Amino acid sequence: MTFEYAPAPESRAIVNIKLKYGHFINGSFVAGKKHFPTLNPATEEVLSHIALGATSDVDKAVAAAQKAYTKTWSKLSGKERGKYLYRIARILQERAREFAVLETLDNGKPIRETRDIDIPLVAAHFFYHAGWADKLDYAGLGHSPKAYGVAGQIIPWNFPLLMLAWKVAPALATGNTVVLKPAETTSLTALLFAEVCQQAELPDGVVNIVTGDGSTGAAIVNHPGIHKIAFTGSTEVGKKIARAIASTDKKATLELGGKGANIVFDDAPIDETVEGIVNGIFFNQGHVCCAGSRLILQESIADEVIEKLKVRMSKIRVGDPLDKNTDLGAINSKEQLVKIKELSAIGDAEGAERWSPQCHLSSKGFWFAPTIFTGVTQAHRIAQEEIFGPVLSILTFRTPQEAIDKANNTPFGLSAGIWSEKGSRIFWASQQLKAGVIWANTFNKFDPASPFGGYKESGWGREGGKHGLSAYLKNGKETGAK
Ligand code: NAI
Ligand code: MG
Repeated sequence: MTFEYAPAPESRAIVNIKLKYGHFINGSFVAGKKHFPTLNPATEEVLSHIALGATSDVDKAVAAAQKAYTKTWSKLSGKERGKYLYRIARILQERAREFAVLETLDNGKPIRETRDIDIPLVAAHFFYHAGWADKLDYAGLGHSPKAYGVAGQIIPWNFPLLMLAWKVAPALATGNTVVLKPAETTSLTALLFAEVCQQAELPDGVVNIVTGDGSTGAAIVNHPGIHKIAFTGSTEVGKKIARAIASTDKKATLELGGKGANIVFDDAPIDETVEGIVNGIFFNQGHVCCAGSRLILQESIADEVIEKLKVRMSKIRVGDPLDKNTDLGAINSKEQLVKIKELSAIGDAEGAERWSPQCHLSSKGFWFAPTIFTGVTQAHRIAQEEIFGPVLSILTFRTPQEAIDKANNTPFGLSAGIWSEKGSRIFWASQQLKAGVIWANTFNKFDPASPFGGYKESGWGREGGKHGLSAYLKNGKETGAK
């Protein structure tokens, strides 16, 4: 007997979306000139119009951030800065439902995730960094480490408010001021965060938010008043940024793409592992830089794991992101859906075998069924390129060394997972894997105290933990960044 779930939609009455937004500069909203629409990707409804920031807007924001740095923020003690961060963290908790609903509307991710993962982690990042603000002198980050001044921050659309928190919280804790640009499809929660800054009475100009596209991002990167860049997004844009700052004294952390290997050894607990595989690739529609997008199965258990995975995937509920029962929401944009479809078609053409469970996809909005490809080899493009969608490439191995060789054979090195009952095997494998984050018998677990970042084309430097703080401090040790 199977039970059907009745719809359980979260109300959107709690959010108040304006028709049009400007930029947040020097503590106030200022009108934009040109605007572009932001959509609900589940319905294609236009939610609002977002200002397209020009170089002149970036100039104003940087001037405000510089003034705030010199006149106010750099004069406050760490303890005083910490109070503002605590206040922001508490307001974010108080307004958590509003943020969760708004993020779900603008991004397409399920409310279950925004409510239980994104927004709680956002608050946790502010609490964590609030605690560091008055302890920097004792953190082993050099004697009396100093801020850079104005940090330029550019974030992607997959975890809009969470990426803002990863960037803004350490910058403020270390005494920097900020000019941040959200991604073009997901600016609304950053603009609501601007209201939180006002509510927390954060001094004017400490946080400035300029919305816009790649040209706005490039204006931030190239601005002479910015000394530290923090970017999360595609490897392609990361490389552009690295080139743009190569002949300057600007410092940068770059969090880029990935093609995470999720390795399953024959002694792994299969049912738990299947849950971990699902979480590794279908969490956030697979729009996750550290997704476990390559499943590397020991040959002797491959058939059993794939069978169980198919049964489990048939239970994934795809649909209205505001429904509290939904597991897999909408693809964030039409462009991203096209990219997922193109790479999946390449998988078919290369001879891999595609499988998806039966599921009804709405004709409005951007949707892609959870998908696996079996019979994938190292040479396939779907084993090498980031699809950034709910698509899993499955490979097999016979010896542990073969698993490691396959796992490491990509241009990326962001994340990996190991499933095994043997501690010795987990330690051995984790030492061989070239990945910044390695999970054992779990996947996609995040904590503000844990540094996050990659090797090779996955980026420079680390965010989170003490390592992340050092990237915002002039004589901060152990950055590993430019
Ligand atoms: P993107 O890298 O173009 O966008 C990320 C951010 O960078 C956005 O705020 C964008 O406006 C800004 N940007 C674009 N061009 C810029 C430039 N020249 N200078 C400064 N900032 C610039 O990513 P996009 O096009 O949205 O996604 C393309 C692919 O990138 C995805 O399919 C996925 O594979 C990957 N991606 C990876 C992410 C990650 O977390 N590692 C996040 C988003 C995308
Ligand atoms: Mg949107």
